[in-house]
Amino acid sequence: MLDIYKLDDEVLRENTESVKSFDSALKMLVDAMFETLTEADGVGLAAPQVGVSKKFFIVDLHEGEKGKFVFINPEIIETSIEEGPYEEGCLSIPGFYRDVIRPLSVKVQAQDLEGKHFTIDASGLLARVIQHENDHLNGTLFIDHLSEDERERVIKAYRKKNKKRKKD
Ligand code: NI
Repeated sequence: MLDIYKLDDEVLRENTESVKSFDSALKMLVDAMFETLTEADGVGLAAPQVGVSKKFFIVDLHEGEKGKFVFINPEIIETSIEEGPYEEGCLSIPGFYRDVIRPLSVKVQAQDLEGKHFTIDASGLLARVIQHENDHLNGTLFIDHLSEDERERVIKAYRKKNKKRKKD
């Protein structure tokens, strides 16, 4: 099980580097991320959340193998005009859930673990998770989509709840 980095950890705010080598180290890390995601009972996990500042994330919709996805060097190339709210949470901000408005469907280009390029059209939960995880690759968290007041409220409440983690 990998450590999951949390709200005040700098790595979550950094810009990530593209993946260039599709080697066994990458595959092992992805395997470990899937195990960590299962343990944490989440649906998505981005590399910065395990302290790796690189452009990839995984999704597990808990539908067996067909619900598992790896997106390496992803790019959202189209988003629907239609948007809607959905309650999001994040393993890096445990215990906090807020409605976030996003496009309801997206088209994504990415590479798989072999480096092969693919494109998918996603809607529903998959589209939601892709956008949330893709944000992590740009140093963005779901709370950044809230109003400034609401974001500050979440951050304050999170810090209060996690005082031990606070830096001196
Ligand atoms: Ni997240």
